[in-house]
Amino acid sequence: MSSTLAERAQQVLRANDRGGYTIPTAGLYPFQWNWDASVCALGWMTFDEPRAWREIETLFSGQWTAADYGGGSAGLLAHITFHQNADSYFPGPDEWGTQALAVRTSSISQPPLHATMVRWMLESAKDQASAQAAARRLLPQLLAHHRWWYRTRDPEGSGLVRVLHPWETGMDNSPAWDHPLAQVPATTRAYQRRDLDHVDASMRPPKAFYDRVVYLMDANRQAGFDPVLMARNGRFQVNDIGVICILQRASRDLAALALQLGDAAGAAEMQAQVQRTHQAVGALWSARWQQPVSRCLLSGQLLDEPTSAGLLAAYAGFAVDISTAVQDSLAQTRHGVASTRPASAAFDAPRYWRGPVWQHINLLVARGLQEQGHSELAERIRADSLALFENAGFHEYFHPNTGAGLGGKDFSWTAATYLHWMTAPAP
Ligand code: GLC
Repeated sequence: MSSTLAERAQQVLRANDRGGYTIPTAGLYPFQWNWDASVCALGWMTFDEPRAWREIETLFSGQWTAADYGGGSAGLLAHITFHQNADSYFPGPDEWGTQALAVRTSSISQPPLHATMVRWMLESAKDQASAQAAARRLLPQLLAHHRWWYRTRDPEGSGLVRVLHPWETGMDNSPAWDHPLAQVPATTRAYQRRDLDHVDASMRPPKAFYDRVVYLMDANRQAGFDPVLMARNGRFQVNDIGVICILQRASRDLAALALQLGDAAGAAEMQAQVQRTHQAVGALWSARWQQPVSRCLLSGQLLDEPTSAGLLAAYAGFAVDISTAVQDSLAQTRHGVASTRPASAAFDAPRYWRGPVWQHINLLVARGLQEQGHSELAERIRADSLALFENAGFHEYFHPNTGAGLGGKDFSWTAATYLHWMTAPAP
């Protein structure tokens, strides 16, 4: 452990602190992002426990309630919460049509890491009394969020939730979305991208992608945010293996938390969902890549791409062995875990979610491997991640061959992952 690197990581979080929430990085991402917030809280936990709990509480202050837009989306935790205005990002608060909310947000969600992170925070807390109190306050909101996923995103009870927008996956530009996005109409309205003001175009998605994500954003507003209409008419409907794995793990952790905090009924409800998903996930196995992959619900087609999303299967607790796939991935690049393996024709080393390494994904993949008994592989990923931090610092993501830092600089979840993984004892 390098203390100067830890100090620098703490400085990144402090510099990105906007009072109760942490922006991912100045300029490019000036609001509170959903799964980023959970990772940030883990980082804050290593040096300021009250601030860590506040991160999650501030995020949940934007959760939709029964009073919002007819109540059908109660429990939604949006992918962006706009606590204040900023014009360096598109699409900002005025674009989503959610002006009636008390705290303005987007109309889509993101991978639900929260219950897992809350459990890890509780386990590592020095101030157990405050941590227990915070977890108790958060429990009903966490349950409401998980219920939102199962109720609105798997209305048939198939065991496999769907996403309705590529941004809900957190892996926005994954090649797995090329097929379903090709079926989405391009918007015909004018809009102004802001990402290219901050990052080189070679690392960002093309215009055709933006034309479609804007179309999908506008469709939610036109549906009045009615989840029944959205699920019926959505032009992008995908069983994303990343969200499925993260929700599965989080529901297992939420069941454990609920039991610990005295809510046996909530625990049993989550366990039943976990069981259902456990039985259904086999349909997503890719024999070609030896890992589960995503599926397009509209065409029924498996989205057979070797992305890091499916490597979260061990972390999810699914009874599958992904060690061959991880070994194959690590053998193909100098630095792992590549977001897309080079064996895919879509591999593009510096382009966002088509090649680069994200450190929080490495943490989750390694944690799952460790739990499945693949300790050597887990340790290899940890050592490799440490080398990336030491050589390139806290960029948004890293080049899988050169190890260069890419995307936004002084990035919160990268710094937070360092603090949690490299400086604190594992919970
Ligand atoms: C990008 C990433 C997304 C992340 C956001 C903020 O949009 O694809 O996963 O949440 O940046 O860091």
